[in-house]
Amino acid sequence: MDMQRVPAREGNYNLKNYDELRSTFKWEDVHKHFSWNETGKVNIAYEAIDRHAENPEKKDKVALLYSAPGREESLTFSDISKKSNQFANVLKKYDVQKGDRVFLFMPRSPEFYVSFFGILKTGAIAGPLFEAFMEQAVRDRLQDSEARVLITTPDLLERVPQEDLPDLEKIILVGNRSEPSDKYIDFYEEMEVASESFDIEWVDLEDGMLIHYTSGSTGKPKGVYHVHNAMIQHYVTGQWVLDLKDDDVYWCTADPGWVTGTSYGVFAPWLNGVTNVIRGGRFTPEDWYSTLDKHNVTVWYTAPTALRMLVSAGEGLVKKYDFSSLRHVLSVGEPLNPEVVTWGLKAFDLRIHDTWWMTETGAQLIVNLPSEEIRPGSMGKPIPGIEASIVDNEGNEIPPNQMGNLAIKAGWPSMMRAIWNNPSKYDSYFINGWYVSGDSAYRDEDGYFWFQGRLDDVINTSGERVGPFEVESKLIEHPAVAEAGVIGKPDPQRGEIIKAFITLNPGYQESDELLEDIRQFVKTGLSAHAAPREIEVRDSIPKTRSGKIMRRLLKSWELGLPTGDTSTLES
Ligand code: WTA
Repeated sequence: MDMQRVPAREGNYNLKNYDELRSTFKWEDVHKHFSWNETGKVNIAYEAIDRHAENPEKKDKVALLYSAPGREESLTFSDISKKSNQFANVLKKYDVQKGDRVFLFMPRSPEFYVSFFGILKTGAIAGPLFEAFMEQAVRDRLQDSEARVLITTPDLLERVPQEDLPDLEKIILVGNRSEPSDKYIDFYEEMEVASESFDIEWVDLEDGMLIHYTSGSTGKPKGVYHVHNAMIQHYVTGQWVLDLKDDDVYWCTADPGWVTGTSYGVFAPWLNGVTNVIRGGRFTPEDWYSTLDKHNVTVWYTAPTALRMLVSAGEGLVKKYDFSSLRHVLSVGEPLNPEVVTWGLKAFDLRIHDTWWMTETGAQLIVNLPSEEIRPGSMGKPIPGIEASIVDNEGNEIPPNQMGNLAIKAGWPSMMRAIWNNPSKYDSYFINGWYVSGDSAYRDEDGYFWFQGRLDDVINTSGERVGPFEVESKLIEHPAVAEAGVIGKPDPQRGEIIKAFITLNPGYQESDELLEDIRQFVKTGLSAHAAPREIEVRDSIPKTRSGKIMRRLLKSWELGLPTGDTSTLES
């Protein structure tokens, strides 16, 4: 049964009549908003930053409002334009060419955003890595992408296994460094002498601009490859879904190591020329509330896990802050509980708008629009220009209210164009002209989509995608671990937590210390968010005859569900 529906409110929204637009809209209609429509010269960095920096009315507007414990800074569009020009000159000095992969492994900071646009201005492909990654995660991504240049900090440098990265020619260090060498370049030193003007590299809409590594159920993380053309959808969803207007102060809480932190933490706000709040440091309820209050945030894009933590922090805390500037709240990454929507109505007197999309889709596809009724628990409806459906495994559409594969008719502007180095993986996403998401869902008679779960073994913990294979591979590197099977275990706060089933090598005895040591091994070797919160020692791990770990069976055991057909189980 539906929870109570939440009607759209009166409001001066950018998009008022969605249904009308659905019947008339064509993606080409958006082209006229971009300078390349007239000049034929394309670069997403130009559209997001330089175009505003050239506009006398916009150039001195604050683009980046940065704060982190111990550091506050704001940069105008003109500042970012000049600084990213300087950085592009630094990259050119070291011979970075169009199409080269230049990776960033650093905390959220003004230097990150300046470097990011500098990379794009050279026509190179940017690859942001989440700052919590440890050595194994960094190695896998830099090896697969064959990155030539890495921008990082002296602190994070020790997690970069340089001996395993023959393609990595230069490392640009942001911060003090002790040992100068041919390989290391000092960010601040080079920036000081670099020119503030740069001849931007004009590219084609279909040229690469970004690789985000993301996890699947098998194999190592895959490099999802995006092109400049994605700006069309970043821009227009910024208008329709985020409802951005010129005087907005926007805050997206996601880290730019993940796709939400680039598509909606960088591109959508700046393509639309709004002030973008970037908050560094770790999550605490007090900190997040005070960020909303202090910067008078008007539009806020965040995630269910964070919202659930705010709910847990209690109503007393809400009352200490002033959220009167806030007018629009959105969520992404995991199912948004109806209870959280109800809480949002009380805490902020605002609706929380769920949005569904993926690293591979590059931008929002199915959403709750500000001008539409919300059905709590539903992800909403496809945006104009998007055809979404529920299909069976052969790619045939199935009727309303039946569960199946959530699928999108291929060909929207921000869709990934490749999986780096892995064409067959890319092809495997598409059946019968549909992009098949790996999520299961159903559609009701009114066209609202309802998320039901993942169809593969991908784990979603606190909105972060974790591949079980990566965790299993790391676990079995521990001397005590013989075999490992990893699953997502439902958790009220985090959506799922990572649970590992392991067998021990001869000579090892189960103990709390050993399990903690194994957990730490994954945490310090791979990343904190991928470390299993629970580890269970078993005599054996169920496998198919061909040796594949039967994670489904592990999950059924964990949940106390019937185990179904186990006929392929290894005897
Ligand atoms: C899940 C994040 C339910 C889903 C932008 C998807 C969601 C995966 C929602 C992509 C939502 C994302 N409701 N589940 N609104 N949004 N997901 O690549 O399983 O990190 O396939 O992209 O997160 O995660 P990714």
